[in-house]
Amino acid sequence: MQYDFSGQRVIVTGAAHGFGRAIARAFAGLGAEVWACDILSDEVVEARSLVRSPGGLCQARTVNVRVRAEEQKFVREVCSDGEPVQVLVNNAGGVLGQVGRPLEEIDGEDRDSVLEVNLRAAFWMSQAVTPGMKRAKYGRFVNISSGGGLRPGMTGVQAYAPAKAAQIHLTRQLAWEPGPWGITINNIAPGFVRSNSTSEWQWHDMGEKGQGALIEGLALRRLGSPADIAHGVVFLASEHVGWITGQVLPVDGGRLQSCKLMMCASACRRHSCSCKREPFLACGLTSMPWRRPAWQMSRGT
Ligand SMILES: NC(=O)c1ccc[n+]([C@@H]2O[C@H](COP(=O)([O-])OP(=O)(O)OC[C@H]3O[C@@H](n4cnc5c(N)ncnc54)[C@H](O)[C@@H]3O)[C@@H](O)[C@H]2O)c1
Repeated sequence: MQYDFSGQRVIVTGAAHGFGRAIARAFAGLGAEVWACDILSDEVVEARSLVRSPGGLCQARTVNVRVRAEEQKFVREVCSDGEPVQVLVNNAGGVLGQVGRPLEEIDGEDRDSVLEVNLRAAFWMSQAVTPGMKRAKYGRFVNISSGGGLRPGMTGVQAYAPAKAAQIHLTRQLAWEPGPWGITINNIAPGFVRSNSTSEWQWHDMGEKGQGALIEGLALRRLGSPADIAHGVVFLASEHVGWITGQVLPVDGGRLQSCKLMMCASACRRHSCSCKREPFLACGLTSMPWRRPAWQMSRGT
């Protein structure tokens, strides 16, 4: 089984760095014409240069996926020659710089922004590419969710795990509709990867003991990389995946499912948590970070 995306047009959202950048590079390396978009203009242009330097085909555009009209305009431009998109990777997402805080401190923008980028954006972007895929009787969607969509998440950002859970269910729901046109819609649920500032501070916040416990809780006993996620995406986006749809593939190093999630919810309701984080460390999960760790504050990130 070989992967060849020559002649295929691939959209990757949130491609400025992290997983999106790795995904864009992987597709371009396999011959695709990649259309990378992100809200971060300079960084998505930088990603385009990296994709192009070994000879890959890549265009970069600034798109805020929270704005449906921007997504539609982007897809119109991508398809301005009348040719459809073959692959859509809905990767833009994350906690958008938020940190875990008590529920009563969360305002509407905190909640809405996370829901819109992680869930709503995938809905409208999928809608925008579907007519072309139906005409071509071919298409592949890969949505990037999170282990947090399968169980309570590590970030402590209340809207994040429900947004990813809903995105997983959106995958299952949408898979039914365009199936007769040869269009498959699948989902990757990544495990913890040190690919962005949030996962980086989570990693530091765990301390040596927590980091060791996290790795020991993975069957493969190592942290993953953006390239590991990209490999899963390429598989689900390939022509070979013609009879797999509506599925979720955890790409997480074989996280132990038996690990008991000890949220210690009642104790952690207060800022000064009496659990001293040990219950979390014991099962390889980080604490619920009610506050930014000191090192992050000092960096002003
Ligand atoms: N890193 C992890 O541990 C991890 C684990 C599970 C799931 N994920 C998911 O994987 C995806 C990629 O994560 P990552 O680790 O590469 O993080 P990242 O922050 O590097 O990538 C997310 C990208 O989305 C972009 N984005 C955010 N809001 C946007 C908007 N309104 N419009 C357009 N682009 C926007 C960001 O600018 C960023 O480039 C996210 O959906 C994240 O939730 C990450």
